[in-house]
Formats: sequence, structure tokens, C-alpha cells
Amino acid sequence: MTEYLKADKAELEKEFKAVRKEYEALRALHLSLDMSRGKPGFDNMDLSEKMFDLVGNDTGFKNISGIDCRNYGGLDGLTEMKTLFAEILDLKPDQIIVGGNSSLNMMFDTIAQAMTHGMGAEPWYECKERKFLCPVPGYDRHFAIAEYFGFKLIPIEMDSEGPIMEQVEEWVQDETVKGIWCVPKYSNPNGITYSDRVVKRMAALKPKARDFRIFWDNAYAVHDLYDTSDELLNIYNECVKAGNPDLPLIFTSSSKITFPGAGVAAEAGSPNNVAMLKDRMQYQTIGPDKLNQLRHARMFHNRSDVEKHMKKLADKLRPKFDAVLTALESNLSGLGIAQWTKPNGGYFISLNVMDGCAKRVTQLCANAGMTLTPAGATYPYGYDAKDSNIRIAPSFPNVEEISKAAEVLCVSVKYAALEKILEN
Ligand SMILES: Cc1ncc(COP(=O)(O)O)c(C=O)c1O
Repeated sequence: MTEYLKADKAELEKEFKAVRKEYEALRALHLSLDMSRGKPGFDNMDLSEKMFDLVGNDTGFKNISGIDCRNYGGLDGLTEMKTLFAEILDLKPDQIIVGGNSSLNMMFDTIAQAMTHGMGAEPWYECKERKFLCPVPGYDRHFAIAEYFGFKLIPIEMDSEGPIMEQVEEWVQDETVKGIWCVPKYSNPNGITYSDRVVKRMAALKPKARDFRIFWDNAYAVHDLYDTSDELLNIYNECVKAGNPDLPLIFTSSSKITFPGAGVAAEAGSPNNVAMLKDRMQYQTIGPDKLNQLRHARMFHNRSDVEKHMKKLADKLRPKFDAVLTALESNLSGLGIAQWTKPNGGYFISLNVMDGCAKRVTQLCANAGMTLTPAGATYPYGYDAKDSNIRIAPSFPNVEEISKAAEVLCVSVKYAALEKILEN
């Protein structure tokens, strides 16, 4: 079949009949498939299981500094975990605060603190017109946090290099703009890594608000799928060069290295930012879960150990991504109704279907037993004006399920496009 938009009505009707038949055959299988959230599969988590034998009566509970990890204390984390995260993020250990199991929780908490106690200036709640910049498509949970705290969400378009910096530079002239969400490496969902040019311009921003912060969520810092890794410039070094050391707050976690429910998260930044955050932590807790930190520290002695482990994870993940990409390529290329990303790492493939069809595609998939992330979720307020973007998360199901799911997806994309073209 040639491009749908160039085909005549008779050809399209014939194609629609065939596609409908294919769809109904898949529907009759009563499938139950889920490609909605970026959860690691059992096969990935199983690779970290030995961690549970690394801390206990036989192996002891003390870290390299002799701290008994069962007890209170160690507010900002064990030395070895700070060193490990410093290696992963290319920072110094004293720039790292090790948290609990969730970096998202640290982002939420940082904004909650800024709301009530400010970020070196007035509390953010005093700014009634407060706004947050949201590169799109982006991570729905980032947008949800900013919305929860009463920010107006401002979509910023992205291209293959990252957020369109002209738009960011213009918006930060507004004093009520307090922050921007960035997933700079293997971004969620489009899998791109910000170019050096974008990182440098981001670092050189001159925001009107002196308490503006870049929320640099490097969740996929070591999550390559192939042998060649995307390189991301160090935002902190660039900010220092530009005279803006306090601009970035950097986050990461081991959720997709070990266990999302029992990983270790970190937040990092300039000496000023770290001092401010640590000062507030004294009131929050008497100490984090250091036993889990110790398990991680004993499993990964340095970045190289993490990289070796990530290669094993990638060997499990790659066939799942490849199954989706192969299906998209063989079923949809040349039809002029969809484009998709081919990421070098991370957890997602971003699919753009014909304008006005994303919701219909997710509905068709749901009717055939397959759950996708709701259409629109990758945009502020869940509103994709073009109704075109669909986030595909292939990590959780097994390869066989993924292949079936990709089949359902491709048929649904064709179905929705043909329906739309023929009704016009
Ligand atoms: C960009 C991004 N940040 C953060 C998270 C969640 O991180 P954590 O498990 O550390 O809270 C995810 C999970 O999908 C993510 O995609």
C-alpha cells in the first residue's frame, strides 16, 4: 500500500476492510497486554536479586566508615553511596544528598519546601501567578507535581536537540516562571538526549526570577540500550562556567538499575543548594534507610560495576524495543500516517500518529485488550492539542507479549487513520 493520503477512495476502502478484519481477529484473542507504564520486567529485576544476600548477620551491617546502618543517623547518605552517585552524575560526593527510594519524591519535596520556605527568596506560594515550564512531550508525573502546587503549566516545544531554547529564554524573562522540568538523557518519552548547544544555553539562562531552578531529572543517566551511549554535557559544570552555579537541581535514582520499589534516589546541586536542602532535612527525618544504601553500595563498588550491570539489563530490554520498532517499521513505514523515535536508551518509544487519532488509537487498543498510556498524558493537563502523541513503554511485558501488543498497536494506528481519512 502507498501513502494513505495519496491513495484513491476505492483503494482506501479496500484497505480499511482488510485492516478491520485483521483487527477483529486480534480482538477475538481476548488479549490482556499492558504497555502503559515504564516498569522494569521481572527479567530485569531478577538481575539484582543477589543484593539481598549482601547485608545481614553473615556479612555485617557496617559501612566503610564503621556506621551501623541499622541505627538512626547518616542524614544525607552513606559515603560510598554519595561517591557512587557522584561518579554517575560526574559531580563531587559532597554535592550529593542520598534519599529514600524515589527521586520523584525528592522533586515533590523540594517544590513543597520552596512553596513554604522559598528557594533563597520569598516562598513560592506568595507568587500567585506562578508558572512552570514543561518541555513536551514530557513526563506526566512531573507535570502533575507542578499542577498540584498550583503552577500554571507552560508547554515548551522540543526538537531532536531538546527544548526549543528561544521559547525557554523568552519565558524566563517572566518573573513568575520559577522552574523548568528537564529529562536531559533518553528523555521520557521521546528518548532524545539534549545536545551540547542546548545544555550550554540552558546553563546560561538569565531568569528574571532569582529563585528560578532547572529541575534536571537525569533518571536515565546510565540506561543505554546499545553499545554506543549518548553523551550528555555536565549541566553543573556549564552552570558554573556561566556564573549560575545555583541554577540546577539534579536528580537520579536506581529505580531502573535495581528495583523501582526499593532503589536509592539522589538529589544534587551547588554548595548553596545542598546546604539549604540539608538544613531542612534535619526537621524531616533522623536518617534514611541505610541498609538499602549498604546493599546497593556492596553490589556496586563504582560506576564501572553499574555499567556492567546495565549491559545485562540492556540485553533483556533491547529485544523488547526491537520487537516494537520492527513492527512499526514493517507495518507503518511508507504509509505517511505515523512517525516514531528510535532511542539509544531509556524506557520509551514515542509514536506520533495522524493528527486527531491518538485517543482513537488508544481506545481501539483498549478494546482489543491492550492498555497504553492515555493519549494526551505526555502534555500538561493531559491535553495534546494535536491529539497525536502516544507513549510506548515496552519494558514490562515479555518479548512474545510485546510482539503481539505491537501488532495490535499497528493495526489500530491504521484503523484510526483510515477511519479519519474516509470520514472526511
Ligand atoms: C523521567 C523520570 N523521572 C523519575 C521517574 C521516577 O523515578 P523514581 O522511581 O526515582 O521516583 C521516572 C519513572 O518512570 C521517570 O521516567
